[in-house]
Amino acid sequence: MTAHKSGDPTTLNRLYGRASGHKLRAGQQALVDSLLPQIGVPAEGDVTALALFGEDRPLHFEIGFGSGEHLAYRADLLPDHGFIGAEPFLNGVVGALGHIRDQHLFNVRLHMGDALDVLERLPDGSLRFVYLLHPDPWPKARHAKRRMINDGPLDLIRAKMAPGGEFRLGTDDPVYCRWSMMVMSRRRDFEWLAESARDFLVRPGGWPETRYEAKARRQGRTVWYFRYRRL
Ligand SMILES: C[S@@+](CC[C@H](N)C(=O)[O-])C[C@H]1O[C@@H](n2cnc3c(N)ncnc32)[C@H](O)[C@@H]1O
Repeated sequence: MTAHKSGDPTTLNRLYGRASGHKLRAGQQALVDSLLPQIGVPAEGDVTALALFGEDRPLHFEIGFGSGEHLAYRADLLPDHGFIGAEPFLNGVVGALGHIRDQHLFNVRLHMGDALDVLERLPDGSLRFVYLLHPDPWPKARHAKRRMINDGPLDLIRAKMAPGGEFRLGTDDPVYCRWSMMVMSRRRDFEWLAESARDFLVRPGGWPETRYEAKARRQGRTVWYFRYRRL
């Protein structure tokens, strides 16, 4: 993975985790071969609404979209907005491509790889929404630098968001929940949009459950939801 110039170099230096799992079936491979080139974020150049969608429109970005259920749901809800999703895991990308095909979504662009690589190419202040749902928790303290919720990635996310834009974070990991609250509360550039003490236990409107989240709940885990305004 490329070294990132901005922010905390130890956090942003490389992509951790797996990129591929089980082998693709022929139909899945055909989908990757046909649809991904059409809706992939171009490998070079600015990543603007005009370049991706042919016009200026509000942009949303999902970091690590998993199988893409949330990304597809949001894109379907807001057809006039542009959605960019990044996910290095091939089996997840295939899932998202299936949703995009089946739901006839024309407003989604995908990057198979590190979200931070694409974020860096966006103009500052261009994102209306950023989503980070169930990021890999890296529960061991010595791996804490790998967490997406760290000042390096957050500085980049913040720079790419429009003032007043919304950053949504969901997690089912108690360590990550506490860590995020600590890191986010230290920052003066994000305001927590909690309306009550129990706010983070209640799923906000327009926030569908992903497969990953459903599994976490089946296994008896709590899910915490955070919404922050970029100041
Ligand atoms: C626990 S899964 C959650 C997936 C999905 N957000 C959901 O809620 O179903 C975390 C995902 O983040 C992805 N991921 C990890 N680091 C990433 C990065 N730097 N850029 C984009 N995705 C990343 C992983 O490949 C994995 O699919």
